[in-house]
Amino acid sequence: MTAKPKVWVSRPLFPDVLARLSEHFDVEAEAVEHRHTPDELKRKLAGVDAAVVGLADRVDAAVLEGNHRLKVVANLGVGFNNLDVDALTRAGILASNTPEVLTESVADFAWALMLAAGRRVNAAERWLRAGHWPGSHMRFDDWLGGDIHGRTLGILGMGRIGQGIARRAFGFDMRVLYHNRSRLPETVERECHATLVSKDELLRQADFLVLVLPFTPENRHVIGAPELARMKRSAVLVNVARGGIVDDAALAVALREGHLAAAGLDVFEGEPSVHPDLMSLENVVLSPHIASASEETRRAMADLAIDNVIAAMGFGESAGKPPTPLNPAVMNRWAASKA
Ligand code: DGY
Repeated sequence: MTAKPKVWVSRPLFPDVLARLSEHFDVEAEAVEHRHTPDELKRKLAGVDAAVVGLADRVDAAVLEGNHRLKVVANLGVGFNNLDVDALTRAGILASNTPEVLTESVADFAWALMLAAGRRVNAAERWLRAGHWPGSHMRFDDWLGGDIHGRTLGILGMGRIGQGIARRAFGFDMRVLYHNRSRLPETVERECHATLVSKDELLRQADFLVLVLPFTPENRHVIGAPELARMKRSAVLVNVARGGIVDDAALAVALREGHLAAAGLDVFEGEPSVHPDLMSLENVVLSPHIASASEETRRAMADLAIDNVIAAMGFGESAGKPPTPLNPAVMNRWAASKA
């Protein structure tokens, strides 16, 4: 009997998902969360045929150097700025991500941050839990936030998640503006009740500005001090995209000095560290990159990641047809080299 190919899973995953992987592979799965150094990553990837990695694992040319065994890298996430896809392609390694399955959950969470930041839910809860309510003589005009319904929602990056956020705005009777590299088809604009505007217009008009664009070198600090200065002082900024899209230091200054009412942030520059000035502000809601973390969605992401590994390595019903490859041309090269 020939030995099963080997897969390394860099993060703890659902046991039943790992069991499914074990039907075809010899699986080495990390049992505890750990941030792998580039050297550790290089060593782990050198000894396996496929890997399931997380957003903290940066798979680049240096990590892949001299690796002649690895065939597949499946990312547990839709964003794949942790993967150097060109380097993977050059090395003949198939890369995949997990699009679609998390769209609606991330859209839900963007709304959770909008509502919490706009209506000061977390700050009020901290105050209540600290025991300040009894005897506080809370005034009729204490804890005022801004309304969400009837306001203008601005979306920067109108992919699937942006569209999901826009669709939800209908129930809140909001006007929806968006800015994107390209205009959406009219049918989609109509379905989302969304109007394309320039980035400048978006910044000036939005009461709630939600960022949902991918992280690329061009998108670094797309929202910095000059952009924040153009926004309404009553506006709320929400980032569910990637750290680094916002200049966190500039955001902290804007929030502290009242140039912006509030922010809801799920992602941070240099996470898991969070800029200390953001940590100390009351008008920002912070969460640890959990926008996709619903039970159903995290399971669906794990399932999709391993479906890619199983199919790309030639197993299962979809053998040879991984569902969401990032560089499918690599598989043609595999086929050509076998012929
Ligand atoms: C993604 O999939 O890119 C999300 O950020 C994960 O939560």
